Amino acid sequence: MSTLFERIGGEKAIDAAVDLFYKKVMADNRINRFFKDINLIKQSQKLKAFLAYAFGGPNKYTGRPLREAHAMLVKKGLNDSHFNAVLENLGNSLKELGVSEDLIEEAAKIAESVRNEVLNK
Ligand code: HEM
Repeated sequence: MSTLFERIGGEKAIDAAVDLFYKKVMADNRINRFFKDINLIKQSQKLKAFLAYAFGGPNKYTGRPLREAHAMLVKKGLNDSHFNAVLENLGNSLKELGVSEDLIEEAAKIAESVRNEVLNK
């Protein structure tokens, strides 16, 4: 079976989803405070590369391990409720771009698999 990366529509689809995702995140008062001081262009490039790889595409990710990248945020109060909000925004972004429910579910499972790393559990 082809990878989720391919079935979702490849690099173009992931780039579009991440761009939409960041628009939603910046408008979401549950979580936008965490993103206040970061360079969103660099950040979205990293997330695009990370998701492409996590979904079975090419590995172009050069960022830090997720545990390390989110450690400061956990010190600032990052918890499960914020993680859930991020997942919701990601799902809604994919949905808005016409990705089918079963593929969204697969993407959500992959995102779910890094919860403990992100939250430094
Ligand atoms: C599925 C869950 C998540 C994934 C896959 C993910 C992915 C990433 C990646 C790839 C980076 C770049 C790492 C680097 O700088 O080298 C990053 C950084 C970051 N993430 Fe996440 N993240 C997730 C959850 C969250 C959540 C829940 C929040 C906050 C609500 C968040 C906020 C941030 C912020 C603010 C940075 C920048 C940190 C910095 O540069 O100091 N992330 N994330």
